[in-house]
Amino acid sequence: MKLVKLIANLGYGSRKQVTQLFRSGAITDANGEVLYADDQVAHADIRIDGEPLDPPPGLTLMLHKPVGVTCSTRDPGRIVNDLLPPRFRLRSPLLSSVGRLDRETSGLLLLTDDGALLHRIVAPKSRLAKVYDATLAQDLRGDEAALFASGTLLLESDTTPLAPAVLEVIDPRHARLTLTEGRYHQVRRMFAAVGNHVTALHRSRVGGLELGDLAAGQWRVLDEEELRRLFVG
Ligand code: URA
Repeated sequence: MKLVKLIANLGYGSRKQVTQLFRSGAITDANGEVLYADDQVAHADIRIDGEPLDPPPGLTLMLHKPVGVTCSTRDPGRIVNDLLPPRFRLRSPLLSSVGRLDRETSGLLLLTDDGALLHRIVAPKSRLAKVYDATLAQDLRGDEAALFASGTLLLESDTTPLAPAVLEVIDPRHARLTLTEGRYHQVRRMFAAVGNHVTALHRSRVGGLELGDLAAGQWRVLDEEELRRLFVG
């Protein structure tokens, strides 16, 4: 791909603006030598104003979504894209969030520009484990783990019962729930079905990938090994 197109597709500007960047000498190689639009250079050796280029397409990020931020551009208020560099919004292919977390849910959210990977993660048959830590308004009754594991729980307005889920009781008002599907507001609706109410919800793991100590609002690029780990667990 021509350099102008490659750099424009990363969101650094229109092709016209990127052509201007070449003319101004802002685009160099790793040694500071000015590059021209028809040079052949490896992605890793290109600098803009001395800074390495953003990663090429095939980009997958892990973001610690804070409470109060939404995943959908259709919702009012702050969206997860606002936590990323503004030029990421202009990338082609676009970054999309992999599934959703509610506005009031925090934790591990993946974003990718790789449509096949996104599909592989969200496809029902992938059955990737998603681990949620829930804080509850009422003490647990004691029968929730058996009901959630039964594979027979039918939520209001659903037509098929939920797949078995694993509930680990941390204390009477805190539980860790592992799901292998991703229905609308699933965790909140599951606890509502047993007469409880989720007051705080946090996703700590997707597949074999843990959020770890990534602070709320922070993100990082996933490497090949982490992408492999996603599907083991
Ligand atoms: N279940 C919910 O209720 N909310 C989420 O954001 C994710 C799972």
